[in-house]
Amino acid sequence: MSKLSMAKKFNNQADVVLYEGNALDLLAQIPDGLIKLVVTSPPYNLGKPYETRLDIAEYIEQQSLVIDECFRVLHENGSICWQVGNYVKNGEIIPIDIMLFPIFQRLGLHLRNRIVWQFGHGLHASKRFSGRYEVILWFTKSNEYTFNLDAIRVPQKYPNKKYFKGSKKGELSGNPLGKNPSDVWEIPNVKANHVEKTDHPCQFPVELVERLVVSMTNPSDWVLDPFMGVGSAAIASLMHGRKSIGAEIVPEYVYIAKERIKAAEEGKLRIRPMERPVYDPGIKNGGIPPKEVKIDGPLQQTLLEQKEGYE
Ligand SMILES: C[S@@+](CC[C@H](N)C(=O)[O-])C[C@H]1O[C@@H](n2cnc3c(N)ncnc32)[C@H](O)[C@@H]1O
Repeated sequence: MSKLSMAKKFNNQADVVLYEGNALDLLAQIPDGLIKLVVTSPPYNLGKPYETRLDIAEYIEQQSLVIDECFRVLHENGSICWQVGNYVKNGEIIPIDIMLFPIFQRLGLHLRNRIVWQFGHGLHASKRFSGRYEVILWFTKSNEYTFNLDAIRVPQKYPNKKYFKGSKKGELSGNPLGKNPSDVWEIPNVKANHVEKTDHPCQFPVELVERLVVSMTNPSDWVLDPFMGVGSAAIASLMHGRKSIGAEIVPEYVYIAKERIKAAEEGKLRIRPMERPVYDPGIKNGGIPPKEVKIDGPLQQTLLEQKEGYE
């Protein structure tokens, strides 16, 4: 029997809600101000197997309805991370973040970073430069927002570097906990050889969502992905003792999400670790291997551990 409490529609007592259906129908079930982090990659209107290509104005209108609802359910100290690339038509690109920015602005959200997510694989263009990055727009609802920087610091390039003159001479010049990961993230995207690859054509790498979840929420907070695909945001959230809720219209993807969560509960889901360098040579050459993650539900246990100094 599953240790995590899973629900098919919103239930405040559940650890994870996997809603099979339209994002707007799930959002309507969620109370105002509940969600600490909305993190999603919406359909890009490219005619992928799961979407019908819409007229641009209609696409923006649909996104606007979902973003308005995400704003309503967002906690006062919460964040929205909208991960997008380009809309492409007849070889011409329109950056989706530029199209959608006025919607977030109208709602009075505060843009904290426009994170550039850089990766190595994608289509090879012949009439323009091949696209190798997408962006994450990170907004907060207010100026009082959760941001646990120490939890997501990355190793310093020269960890032993010291001041060589002045009053701090001999002391370490960098933060011993590591450096701020900056707003340019080099994280492999999930293509054929990636350890997390499923049947979904464009899933999040778990490590990308992990960094957002760990920095922008605290244990037991709710994380919402209105376009959850195969549940990568749910896995990242549950791995770190957060509660997760998401909607997905394609039943097969909901099924895969459920199976991935179950595998993680059993310690059998393989993911690329957050701490693995991009040019890691792989286990055969002494590098960091993929890790099997274990979700330690139920959440009550996590809260107990928290009281006893967990995290
Ligand atoms: C870019 S993918 C997100 C993939 C996800 N980040 C993951 O890691 O698997 C967008 C997803 O939104 C789903 N979708 C499209 N329209 C939707 C809607 N109105 N409500 C819920 N899901 C929708 C698609 O089926 C697709 O799986």
